[in-house]
Amino acid sequence: MAERKILVLFGSQTGNAEDTAERIGRGAKRRRLDCRVEALDSYDVAKLINEPLVVFVCATTGQGDPPDNMKMFWRFLFRKNLPPNSLCQLDYAVLGLGDSSYPKFNFVAKKLHKRVLQLGGNPLLPVALGDDQHDLGADAVIDPWLVALWDKILALYPLTPGLDIISQDVCLPPKYTLHYLAEDSTHPDDGLLQPTAPRTIASELHPFSARVVSNQRVTAESHFQDVRLIEFDVTGSGITFSAGDVVMIQAQNCPEDVQQFCQLLRLDPDRQFVLKPTESGTSLPALLPQPCTIRHLVTHYLDISCVPRRSFFELLSYFATNELEREKLQEFSSAGGQEELYSYCNRPRRTTLETLWDFPHTTCAIPPDYLLDLIPRIRPRAFSIASSVLAHPDRIQILMAVVRYKTRLSKPRRGLCSTWLASLNPEQGDVRVPLWVKKGGMKFPADPDIPVIMIGPGTGVAPFRAAIQERVAQGRKGNYLFFGCRQKSKDFYCQVEWEELVTKGFLTLFTAFSRDQEDKVYVQHRIRENRRLVWELLSSRNAHIYLAGNFPGALQALRSVLQLEGGLSPSEAEEHLRALERSQRFQSETWS
Ligand code: 2AM
Repeated sequence: MAERKILVLFGSQTGNAEDTAERIGRGAKRRRLDCRVEALDSYDVAKLINEPLVVFVCATTGQGDPPDNMKMFWRFLFRKNLPPNSLCQLDYAVLGLGDSSYPKFNFVAKKLHKRVLQLGGNPLLPVALGDDQHDLGADAVIDPWLVALWDKILALYPLTPGLDIISQDVCLPPKYTLHYLAEDSTHPDDGLLQPTAPRTIASELHPFSARVVSNQRVTAESHFQDVRLIEFDVTGSGITFSAGDVVMIQAQNCPEDVQQFCQLLRLDPDRQFVLKPTESGTSLPALLPQPCTIRHLVTHYLDISCVPRRSFFELLSYFATNELEREKLQEFSSAGGQEELYSYCNRPRRTTLETLWDFPHTTCAIPPDYLLDLIPRIRPRAFSIASSVLAHPDRIQILMAVVRYKTRLSKPRRGLCSTWLASLNPEQGDVRVPLWVKKGGMKFPADPDIPVIMIGPGTGVAPFRAAIQERVAQGRKGNYLFFGCRQKSKDFYCQVEWEELVTKGFLTLFTAFSRDQEDKVYVQHRIRENRRLVWELLSSRNAHIYLAGNFPGALQALRSVLQLEGGLSPSEAEEHLRALERSQRFQSETWS
């Protein structure tokens, strides 16, 4: 009989695809299949030719791009020299996670499905196109697709006679077991906070521990939004970057939340433990030192401020000792309870920690072994680099809005990473942040004679600050910036810098202060007012145009420049803009 073996490979940016892959993994274990769940880039892709059964779970990000943890796999899969029938032994299925309000909806999943088919794979089902825009989230598509998938798989790989599917009433074993060390063991080094010698280029697995040099609020105290210019010292890291690149920052929970969490779960933050995988072949979480303290685990690893997913409630329900709590948890994890779960959790952005407060009996009964199954790891956050090494050698600066907003919950919602970064005070000693750098989507022209037109309201201006610093350091003129903010006196950050460059003839600046007069004035108004100049730069000087942030009005203004000054019809203007985009002369994060 065929080996009952399944591999679930995922490409995940925010953790949704990983969560879905884990869910499929649990489904496989209940059907007594030998199952492994892995990120695509941790998997040795050459082994794919020997796999009998693979489910791919892939998110699509940004402009139809694969997530970071499947980029190597993606390059490999589209090599021209792969033999046409190399995957003819493979039964496979592809589940996509995307958002239909973005262009290239589920592009990665569709393309992957086609490519594996082309390489001889046997699809078990049509590709599933999960959609975040759906009222009930991606599960509306995923749930029925999974029912069909398990039917197919059980038909191909029937259960051994006499054995049944493991019932939902049974809690599956945890991924790792947590073994406490004797109480008097000495504390391990806090690996992440030690300045790291650059063994290799800084990366997600080896972040560089960068010193915070300064952390300055650049909006007026009276302004509604707290925007920071933060500088990191990356001396000795070997990090290189250019304008348009992105710095990835590994955030941590604040001490108060860590303490609360430990209290709720009755955990001693100072206890040390080692982790052991339950099944051989499972690797240990890369970023956790061994041994590790509970405090380190909760501070640096467990994302207790994320909005919990359905799988959280599913697992939590097994630990319920109180009938009322169990009923509620089971409802939230059932297909029929998704609307209620959405209004309990997603709409008000309730955090995991707050949710645990609502289930106190269950929470104090959570076995520590299950912590890593229950709570996802803290994901790194991406920030556009706002400085150039040519202007600030060995430094990285970011321009960051502190995320804070109200929902119906009484406490304001706070972004984990921005709140943590904003709280760092370099005057209080050696404050460090784990980070690494990633290539960004925006590329600036190498040819010194090509002018650049940059449209960046708010903190969208960050990559343009890097580009302007880089270009000015190289003596390049032809920098045109459209900047928008609310009030000249409150959030016109970098004003002094811009004005100095204007005086020196390096920058042409157009500002739109939306709330300094009765009627709103936005960057698109300034683009329209200066349409002759924009057209001239585009048509006679081959200018490149950049738009940061989701500003459809600014895009519309560019279309009108092409129509009014270039004499193009609406459809010709649209086609022209798309042609500019294809040749990378127009780069944006939006298209609508
Ligand atoms: P507002 O908040 O007064 O509406 C940076 O956030 C600047 O971008 C602010 O001045 C903000 O104006 C403006 N902004 C908001 N929505 C916009 C849109 N759709 N197009 C262009 N600018 C916008």
